[in-house]
Amino acid sequence: MKKILLITGWLGYIWSHAVIEFETSGYTTIIIDSLIHSSRDALVGMKKILGYTPVFLEGSIGDSMFLEEVFSKYSFDGVIHFAGLKAVGESTQKISLYHHNNISGSIVLFEVMERYKVKNIVFSSSATVYDAQFAPEYREDTPLKTSNPYGTTKFVIEQLLQDYTRHANWSVMSLRYFNPIWAHPSGYIGEQQTGVPTNLLPYVLDVAAGKHDAVQVFGNDYDTPDGTGIRDYVDVGDVVWAHKKAYERLLPWYQAINVGTGRGWSVYDIIRYAEKITGKAIPSKVEHRRRWDAACYIANTQYAQKVLWWEAKTDLETSIKDAWNFIQTQQ
Ligand code: WQD
Repeated sequence: MKKILLITGWLGYIWSHAVIEFETSGYTTIIIDSLIHSSRDALVGMKKILGYTPVFLEGSIGDSMFLEEVFSKYSFDGVIHFAGLKAVGESTQKISLYHHNNISGSIVLFEVMERYKVKNIVFSSSATVYDAQFAPEYREDTPLKTSNPYGTTKFVIEQLLQDYTRHANWSVMSLRYFNPIWAHPSGYIGEQQTGVPTNLLPYVLDVAAGKHDAVQVFGNDYDTPDGTGIRDYVDVGDVVWAHKKAYERLLPWYQAINVGTGRGWSVYDIIRYAEKITGKAIPSKVEHRRRWDAACYIANTQYAQKVLWWEAKTDLETSIKDAWNFIQTQQ
């Protein structure tokens, strides 16, 4: 019999890619999403890729009555927990909204999981839980210290999950994403932007598409080779593949694992690659640093290789090509 997984949506569109990954690997997925920060469009893209529409239920993880209904209807083997607000800058303005949605929502979800004895979970955590003073490369045992409320919500949820592993025998993997960049090679699903993008690559591609005049480079005085921030950009296809590997390798304890490529790229590197791929000139202008930014985030990938037998396989150029392809299909 096929294992049934609950996919809690909302984190950009990574969940839609995860549905494809799990459905094509022999699992049945049930998606829940409040549709506050996403739309049903991803379901249309998923149908084009899969040939059918997976089960989708509209509702929030913070709504215990809704979750009761869902858990009483399906016999879940486990949960892939993406749901959560994710804009770092916004989290510094709307602190309680982030705390409430991400942390309180997860508490309700875990409570219902506990009631229904569902003990397997893969959680979307973030590299922002690491103390940035240990840059450039972060291992899973690097000390944690968050610099923004979004990161704090991930840190707190990781702690809550450790209580469940210690005292209720849950099997948990927290995947600490570095900088996922997103689009399915088919061009049918990717990150649909509502408003002006806050992340680097979508903004750079918007400039290439003529939607904005120039990329704002947030700081060129970091202690990095060209002075701009360095990040480890990991393709969404590799991110969801890591989820599948993580689910297959769950053990009755807590594990946190980096999901990155082990390579870092500066803001100017990204602009140069995007110019090459799109064939457009992408102007930029230097602005002040963002208060919450750190100079460098690069994943140490050894533990992921050892535990998950997983290593990112998509190169940056391919990821940017897929993202550009998706943006063009949206116009
Ligand atoms: C990347 C670099 C900016 C925009 C991300 C995710 C977050 C979390 C952690 C998983 C930085 C610079 C950006 C722009 C710029 N991941 N930049 N001009 O802040 O690293 O956070 O990683 O949980 O979800 O958002 O990503 O894309 O905003 O910034 O110069 O217009 O690009 O300063 O160096 P960030 P980002």
